[in-house]
Amino acid sequence: MTTYWSQRFAREGMIWGSQPSPSAEWAKKRFLEAGVSSILVPGAGYGRNTKGFASEFTVYGVELSEPALELAAEWDPETTFIAGSALEQQLQQPVDAVYCYDVLHLFLADDRRRLIEASLGQVRSGGLLYFTSFSDEDSHNGYGMELEPGTFEYKVDKYAHFFSDADLRAHFAGTEILETGSFTEVLHSPEGGTHEYILRYILARKP
Ligand SMILES: C[S@@+](CC[C@H](N)C(=O)[O-])C[C@H]1O[C@@H](n2cnc3c(N)ncnc32)[C@H](O)[C@@H]1O
Repeated sequence: MTTYWSQRFAREGMIWGSQPSPSAEWAKKRFLEAGVSSILVPGAGYGRNTKGFASEFTVYGVELSEPALELAAEWDPETTFIAGSALEQQLQQPVDAVYCYDVLHLFLADDRRRLIEASLGQVRSGGLLYFTSFSDEDSHNGYGMELEPGTFEYKVDKYAHFFSDADLRAHFAGTEILETGSFTEVLHSPEGGTHEYILRYILARKP
């Protein structure tokens, strides 16, 4: 998977433009209300979302792709980027919140569990987790070979897990689920094109 993302970042640069997802603005509001001061962003890409947090919080981004890390260092110098896997704990000290945008659906079941466990392991008790992922209501759901229940190879050599609300809640069993919902994300490419995805989100608190 790293090769796929590294090739895309090397070729396309800031693939989804420079603006943070509107979900980052929404999460920021909830984090500020909860008195959050530090955030972990697993699978931070080139830093378009970390940059939206960096003026208010201490932000740590974890990312595997070297070209993405190079772009991130330039785009968002205020965030501390860590080269490594989001499936493993990278921080020595727990943060107050985790924001994870469109990374969870990239993995098969065992690695989805590892991502959530690693995130829980790096947030303090009482801290918040905000995750987005593909929805089962998205038009790509059900296309291609089904590799595991709900996980489809919907493009050549590219698969994703498509979450129902119950499935997303089940992944976060053991946390206090504060809110779930769905929204349509419109992504703008640097060439002026747009893509729409239906995403689900979850806001949960670590007990
Ligand atoms: C769909 S992109 C989302 C990027 C970013 N969250 C954003 O919205 O701009 C998924 C990102 O996860 C990264 N990634 C994939 N597997 C990873 C892993 N095990 N650890 C850290 N990052 C990973 C990819 O390199 C890519 O940057």
